[in-house]
Amino acid sequence: MIRLISFEGGDGSGKSTQLRLLEGYLSSHGRACLCTREPGGTNLGEMIRKVLLEVGDKTISSQTELFLYLADRAQHVQEVIQPALASGRIVLCDRFTDSTLAYQGYGRGADLHMLRQMNLVASRGITPDLTFLLDCPVELGVSRTARRMQEQRPTQGRVDRFECEKVEFHERVRRGFQELAQAEPERICVLDASRSIQEVHDQIRQIVERRLAGD
Ligand code: ADP
Ligand code: TYD
Repeated sequence: MIRLISFEGGDGSGKSTQLRLLEGYLSSHGRACLCTREPGGTNLGEMIRKVLLEVGDKTISSQTELFLYLADRAQHVQEVIQPALASGRIVLCDRFTDSTLAYQGYGRGADLHMLRQMNLVASRGITPDLTFLLDCPVELGVSRTARRMQEQRPTQGRVDRFECEKVEFHERVRRGFQELAQAEPERICVLDASRSIQEVHDQIRQIVERRLAGD
C-alpha cells in the first residue's frame, strides 16, 4: 500500500522537480494525488516557513527552530495530510520527518531518539510508506540552487538560513540521510540525483508502478 510518499535530500537535489513529474504521471493514470511541502503546506505553515527561512541566521535558537518545524508538521498533518489520506488520495510530500532527523539531528546535533519521539507526536504516528532520497554531492545541489535563484524573478529568489550554512553542515546532513536509508532500505529508496531529470524520473516511476501493482 502506498499512500504517503515523501521526497527527501539536500537543498537543490531535485525534490520539487521530481515530485511534480510524479504527480503528472500519477494524475494521467487516474490516480488522485495531493502535492504538499514542509515547511509550509498550510496558511499557518507558510507563515512559519517565512519565519524559519528568512529571519536572520542567529536570531532563532536551535531549539526554537526545532519546535517551529514540529509545529508546522503538526498543523500540516492535521489540516492537510490526514484528510487527504482519508479521502483516498496519494499524498506526495516535499520533505517530511526524515528532514528533521537529518537537519536538526545529524546537522545540528540534536538527540535522534528524542527527535523520533517528537516526530511521532507531530505527525500523529503517520510515517511515509515510501521515501525517495535524492542523493547528490553537496556542491551540485548548491550550484543547482544558485541557478534556480537566477531563474526566479528577484522578488522570489532568496538566500535562506540553511543556504548560508557551511559545506560541512550539508555534508553531515547528506551522511545523515544516507544512514537513515541504510537503516530502512524497504522504505527509503536512494536515487543518484546527479543524473538527468528524465533518468531520475524514470527510476521513480518504475518503483512506484511496482509498488502500486503490489497494492
Ligand atoms: P529541490 O526541491 O531539491 O531544492 P529543485 O527541484 O527545485 O530542487 O531543483 C533545483 C534546480 O535544479 C531547478 O532549477 C531544477 O530545474 C534543477 N534540477 C533539478 N533536477 C535536476 C537534474 N537532475 N539535473 C539538472 N538540473 C536539475
Ligand atoms: P526548502 O526551500 O523547502 O528546501 P530546498 O532548498 O531543498 O527546496 O527549504 C526548507 C529548508 O528547511 C531546507 O534547508 C531543510 C530545512 N528543514 C529542516 O531543517 N527540518 C525539517 O524538519 C524540514 C521539513 C526542513
